[in-house]
Amino acid sequence: MVKILHDNDADMSILDGKTVAVIGYGNQGSAQALCLRDSGVNVIIGESETLNDKPNPSWQRAQDDGFKVMQISKAAKAADIVHILLPDEFQGKVYRKSIRKHMKAGKILCCSHGFNIVFKAIAPPADVDVIMVAPKSPGSEERKAYLAGFGVPGLIAVRQNASGKARDIALAMAKAMRFTKAGCLECTFEQETYEDLFGEQAVLCGGLVELMKAGFEVLTEAGYPPEMAYFECVHEMKLIVDLIYEGGIQKMNATISNTAEWGEYEVGPKIITEKTKKAMKKVLANVESGKFARRWLRESRGGALNLKAKREALGNHPVEVVGRQIRAMFEKN
Ligand code: NAI
Ligand code: MG
Repeated sequence: MVKILHDNDADMSILDGKTVAVIGYGNQGSAQALCLRDSGVNVIIGESETLNDKPNPSWQRAQDDGFKVMQISKAAKAADIVHILLPDEFQGKVYRKSIRKHMKAGKILCCSHGFNIVFKAIAPPADVDVIMVAPKSPGSEERKAYLAGFGVPGLIAVRQNASGKARDIALAMAKAMRFTKAGCLECTFEQETYEDLFGEQAVLCGGLVELMKAGFEVLTEAGYPPEMAYFECVHEMKLIVDLIYEGGIQKMNATISNTAEWGEYEVGPKIITEKTKKAMKKVLANVESGKFARRWLRESRGGALNLKAKREALGNHPVEVVGRQIRAMFEKN
């Protein structure tokens, strides 16, 4: 059984007198920095004033939120805990350029996804602690839950424990962001990284989007109105997932009609087949071997041209075109 940690497993006083530099004020950086600060932690922000020769809005946003904002290398130098919350594909480069030289003995390197440590794009010196403190949530939801007095679930992991206190620090940060209020799982860097990548590729993002698109295409190619196909295959997805989130698959099944439930048992396994599962096993193997990571980092280094092309193509897919129209109609009413 994986360990689940709660508030009384953690002691925030270990953070007293320590400065946390949150590097990157984006989705996660902004939410985590605000929560840490509201819990009394001393937080500074490391950011780039410009990105691709344009002013970086994240820099301004961090300033507007009242933080002391500085260049990344300055923040890394000033901090005891360097918490890197940049996009994964840029972390290695920024680390080598601006952070590495400041990772002196006794400091703590922290992240919210193990990607760069596990796939060795960041190789920290042996005399620093390396920890992970990660929410199982997008930043916006994490901040909302914190402000409501709760928290979202999180993960902690320890990769290097040079100080002997690495786990206590990770737990203290998790408590400060209220992950231990909801329940915080303890795992390894590999478990978090491989599970996260597998989940987003096979189920949450890759699997889900292709399932919805395929359903939409089958209906519209058979001559059904795209608006109806959109409601059927995309819009209703949220209602179904909300029910599962609330009370499991059985609650969802108890809410839908018996006809729908029978269709689920009878037809579901004909869509997600043994062949699909075999393909999923290959996805996991490519994640674990580092093949996926190598391909993605190469794509990013080359300017992410394929990523941008796919993004654009998706925007022109009928499911997105009709979806935009329908959502605009909702907003007007
Ligand atoms: P993000 O995409 O919001 O970017 C963070 C900031 O990095 C941006 O605001 C920008 O100022 C800066 N940045 C962007 N490109 C840069 C570049 N080329 N060089 C230097 N700085 C650049 O990042 P996000 O989504 O918050 O992810 C941060 C970390 O949190 C990642 O490790 C991610 O895996 C992890 N994570 C993200 C979750 C999410 O909901 N987005 C959930 C859990 C973990
Ligand atoms: Mg994830």
